[in-house]
Amino acid sequence: MRVLIIGSGGREHAIAKALDRSRHDVEIYCIGLSHNPGIFALCNEYRVGSLTSPAEIVESAKAWRCDFVLIGPEASLECGVADALESAAIPCIGPKRKLAKIETSKSFARQLLFASSVPGIPRFQVFSDLHGVSDLLADLTDGYVIKADGLMSGKGVKVSGDHLPDTSAALRYCEELIAAGSAFLIEEKLQGVEFSLMSFTDGTTLAHMPAVQDYKRAFVGDSGPNTGGMGSISDADQSLPFLAASDIEHAKAINEASLKILCEYAGEPYTGILYGGFMATRDGVKLIEYNARFGDPESINALAVLQTDFIDICQHIIDGTLSRLPVRFERCATVCTYGVPEGYPYSPLKGGIIDVSLLPAGADVYFAGVDERDGMLYTTGSRTLAVLGKAPTIPQAAAIAERLIAAISGPIFHREDIGSEQLLKKRIETMNSLRSKV
Ligand code: AMP
Ligand code: GLY
Repeated sequence: MRVLIIGSGGREHAIAKALDRSRHDVEIYCIGLSHNPGIFALCNEYRVGSLTSPAEIVESAKAWRCDFVLIGPEASLECGVADALESAAIPCIGPKRKLAKIETSKSFARQLLFASSVPGIPRFQVFSDLHGVSDLLADLTDGYVIKADGLMSGKGVKVSGDHLPDTSAALRYCEELIAAGSAFLIEEKLQGVEFSLMSFTDGTTLAHMPAVQDYKRAFVGDSGPNTGGMGSISDADQSLPFLAASDIEHAKAINEASLKILCEYAGEPYTGILYGGFMATRDGVKLIEYNARFGDPESINALAVLQTDFIDICQHIIDGTLSRLPVRFERCATVCTYGVPEGYPYSPLKGGIIDVSLLPAGADVYFAGVDERDGMLYTTGSRTLAVLGKAPTIPQAAAIAERLIAAISGPIFHREDIGSEQLLKKRIETMNSLRSKV
């Protein structure tokens, strides 16, 4: 079995590790943005190249005679890599462009799901000019969120009270988006605690992964700017300590309803990973956004506890037979902590030298924004590398992750509080206080 991975971040290293654990005889190939030493060590062949050139990717998949392709990043989905592979009759884990719009266009996602009465959609409106904006802002008395429509790596979302101190700041941001030619959404600001629920799917059946929480803020105590994710946690019971059992059931039901609507709209199956970003609120679970791929770092947690053979899952997704495969996860908590370059996210240091030689043998490490040259590891500017702790409880897993990341030296920093008891308690208290107000 020859598998081509597109992408070279921590997520793709986690994918490569999961493939490498398969009982099948697997040969791994990869096209990445830099020379990722972790993926390289597991690969038969590795090429540094563009992740958004469908023709080149198809050419490599053919040259390497790959049985299927696994797409990591959303940019590859948006530029039609899955479409090009389908035209070349090469199976792919990752949806075609029309289906990936569930991630790449926020207005499309909200409008499609709202029109189909999928539950958990917050109040929203789509704009391309200022007409009606002031009225809606005045109406959303509990706060609002303004979102640029396209892929913005999380940077196009501004929240009232957080990034937008008052109405004039909100209007200025809308004007900025209009001047840039971007449509935008304004929606009600939700109060609660966020979590992710990713599901494998063949377009009909969903196999849900454990819920994961991404720690998005750059600095300890959930302070500082939003990032791609500084770390993430999952728990042994596949839920999270601040969620009620009904929250997980609601999130699963929203993923199921959304998949059905999306496939009906496109007239073809969505294959790959459907990743719902949710907020648990006092009124139940609300949908923040969809992603059409594995989360990074969330996939590191989920794949680390995946017991079912990953190649079997991919094969059943490709064959449309996922309903016949029980997908199981180990009953363990996980904590993933990212080390990121100094200055991240606004002005990250590139070319800093990283030393991992003091990591203990068997440490679970995921290389990401690292370039290996002449035996040295250099930061590329995006998140550098992640470590994972696995243990019976989240704080125990956090202690393992902290020990591992502390053994890495170089101009990087990390959050010491991913999975800490203190932050878990804070999230539980937030949910308890919201629920008591119902
Ligand atoms: P998105 O790119 O849509 O996932 O939004 C990025 C971040 O903005 C989310 O992870 C939330 O922290 C925040 N956010 C998005 N939509 C809302 C909302 N309706 N209410 C409160 N926060 C939100
Ligand atoms: N961790 C957020 C994402 O993968 O989009």
